[in-house]
Amino acid sequence: MQVVDITDSINESDNIKTIKFKWPAESKPGQFIMVWIPGVDEIPMSLSYSDGITVDSVGEATQAIHALEKGSQIGIKGPYGNGFDLSGNDFLLIGGGTGIAALAMAAENLSQAGKKIRIAIGARTASDLLFVERMKALGEVHIATDDGSSGHHGFITQVAEKLITVKKPDMILACGPEPMMASAVKLAHKIPIQCSLERHMKCGFGICGSCQCGKFTVCKDGPVFSGEQLGQMEDFGKWKRDSSGKSVWF
Ligand SMILES: Cc1cc2nc3c(=O)[nH]c(=O)nc-3n(C[C@H](O)[C@H](O)[C@H](O)COP(=O)(O)OP(=O)(O)OC[C@H]3O[C@@H](n4cnc5c(N)ncnc54)[C@H](O)[C@@H]3O)c2cc1C
Ligand code: FES
Repeated sequence: MQVVDITDSINESDNIKTIKFKWPAESKPGQFIMVWIPGVDEIPMSLSYSDGITVDSVGEATQAIHALEKGSQIGIKGPYGNGFDLSGNDFLLIGGGTGIAALAMAAENLSQAGKKIRIAIGARTASDLLFVERMKALGEVHIATDDGSSGHHGFITQVAEKLITVKKPDMILACGPEPMMASAVKLAHKIPIQCSLERHMKCGFGICGSCQCGKFTVCKDGPVFSGEQLGQMEDFGKWKRDSSGKSVWF
């Protein structure tokens, strides 16, 4: 574990903050780190920047991260996980909620490599939309909100369906709520798709079964899985284990 200094804390919305830190490690788009908050917990977070994470405050550990200020310290382990395979030329990225955080570095790498990218960003409401300006600098951005306060009024998968049918990308990357990703896999049909899963993690190294999805574990085999692997997971988009280990429906 490396103890790092927080260099910046940026409000992205009422409930979401980006935390930047001094961290020289190399990482791949789609990888995650384990963040240790002294005296609280250790939790997985996608790298939204090579030196930063973007955190939705949902419980004790994420609230504690939000309370940290410039100059505070956190512990970091990783980077972990396989990350996205960026082979292909014409990409559709689908990010729901904080899921766009896991896709942001992929979008930057693809843009730098001169590849075609369209980015579909969905959120409950306009103020929850993340990284819209950052993504506009990289590719064509499409927006949907559940309440219609920005972009398409409805689910981001409805926007993605049109883009898949009309633009015919040759690779789709997705991250967000599992039911959203399960819809994206169906829409992709024969187009290759990779989804980054965010299951509840405890051990972080494939032993406890907390992040099990079908025969795979998200911490050891993922977090990114191909459409073919997702098709073998009977629980994908349907149920997951909660913090007590009980199976709960999405
Ligand atoms: C590989 C990976 C990458 C992740 N990347 C991000 C990220 O970039 N930004 C971000 O904000 N969050 C991310 N998460 C989710 C994040 O780890 C959890 O929200 C966090 O662990 C919750 O901790 P807590 O103590 O604040 O809340 P808890 O008190 O543990 O939980 C509060 C609520 O959040 C739910 N929750 C807990 N863990 C998860 C989870 N893994 N996925 C979905 N819901 C969960 C609980 O069921 C509960 O309803 C990621 C998870 C994984 C596995
Ligand atoms: S967190 Fe224990 S198996 Fe993945």
